[in-house]
Amino acid sequence: MSTTEIVAAAGVSESNSRQVPAGAFSSRLAFVLAAAGSAVGLGNVWKFPYIAGENGGGAFVLVYLVCVAVLGLPILMAEIAIGRRGGHDPARAMRRVAEANARSPAWSRVGLVAVIASFLLLGLYSVIAGWALGYTAFAASGRLSAAADAGWVFESLLASPSWLIGLHSVFLVLTIAIVARGVREGIERAARVMMPLLFALLRAIVAFAAVTTGTFVEAATFLLAPDFSRLTPSAVLEALGHSFFTLSVGFGVMMAYGSYLPKPGQAGRAAVAVAAIDTGVALIAGLAIFPFVFAQGLEPSAGPGLIFVTLPAAFAAMPAGTVLATTFFAFLVLAALTSSISILEPITEHLARRLQIPRVAAASLAGFGAWLLGIGVALSLNVGSEVRVFGRSFFDALDFLVSNVLLPCGGLAIAVFAGWRMSRRTAEAELGFGSGRAFALWRFAVRYVAPIGVAAVLLHGL
Ligand code: TRP
Repeated sequence: MSTTEIVAAAGVSESNSRQVPAGAFSSRLAFVLAAAGSAVGLGNVWKFPYIAGENGGGAFVLVYLVCVAVLGLPILMAEIAIGRRGGHDPARAMRRVAEANARSPAWSRVGLVAVIASFLLLGLYSVIAGWALGYTAFAASGRLSAAADAGWVFESLLASPSWLIGLHSVFLVLTIAIVARGVREGIERAARVMMPLLFALLRAIVAFAAVTTGTFVEAATFLLAPDFSRLTPSAVLEALGHSFFTLSVGFGVMMAYGSYLPKPGQAGRAAVAVAAIDTGVALIAGLAIFPFVFAQGLEPSAGPGLIFVTLPAAFAAMPAGTVLATTFFAFLVLAALTSSISILEPITEHLARRLQIPRVAAASLAGFGAWLLGIGVALSLNVGSEVRVFGRSFFDALDFLVSNVLLPCGGLAIAVFAGWRMSRRTAEAELGFGSGRAFALWRFAVRYVAPIGVAAVLLHGL
């Protein structure tokens, strides 16, 4: 898969960039790269393979693909459209679109909750991204392949407050530095440099897996051949929840990015391109990981430790294992960084407007807050593991709140707003599908399918 092919297939081209307003992406392609950068993250490379592994592979993957197509994608389109119409800051975007449609300005609260949710997510995300950063360093220095026991490396990392906090700090500083530079100079530039590199690294790893392991077909079969006897109801709901997370919908991130689209009438196709890239990367990441796992006779169902314990053990047994592991974890860091900048963006826009402060100050302030939160997250993995919040560790409680409560709520509110509160004319103008079949399908999805699906996830989660 090449990005250019997918982007071209989705009808996205550079030629759409005339009269670009200041503070916007320079073209639709730039939007697609940045938004795909947001979508492709820890969710694709860390979480998707391990939940697919835990749930038996193929059948789960199929359900996940359906969820992306019928739930995540329509909501993604809605978010981009609302942002394009309403502006950068999700709270204000919701208010403006609501008022333009003679609806209650209280819809801005949905945007506000989304901003707060992004903030909570950033504190958590940055700590996990820090693991990837640490692993890149461990791999490059040869410590990872030299370790007799890969599980020990992971346990020691999680047991060390100073490592966790140090790595989290470095990662967050990188994130703040990019966002502070602005939309064009920071976010767009980063996406233009990092996304092609990310695709190149992924391609290299998959090619290596295909050539050297001899278990590529086994891995492809595991991921793609459905065995429905292994599918449980809770796996279906997990797939559903993950389809939101992986597309970055529900927290106003795509509203902020959508507001930087240079012209109306592009939200539909751009969303299709983003979802295609995101799904493609998740599947290919699976094909880059499982061949190594199977080649060493390891289990695909190791859970969260799949990437940080099972995979390093598999790499260590490979020729060129050090290079391989370094490449893989560098890839993971790139994926996480283009996502974390997107999570910081709506918070930055919101604070800059609310407090009337410059972008640099807003990004630093939001980043500082997320840094403090992340310290709590890091400590809850070791010295503070006894502290219980609603019966869970702080890490698990925050993850539960963000992924199982706020994310479905955000998605639900956005779907209801786009389907029932935003006028048909506005939606048509922003999506750019005309008023025919494609539009009718979208509207049906956001009005009925998505709200019902999301309500199911929510009830299950609680
Ligand atoms: N989609 C990213 C991933 O898969 C994570 C992410 C970025 C996200 N922005 C988001 C998730 C907004 C929810 C909401 O890792």
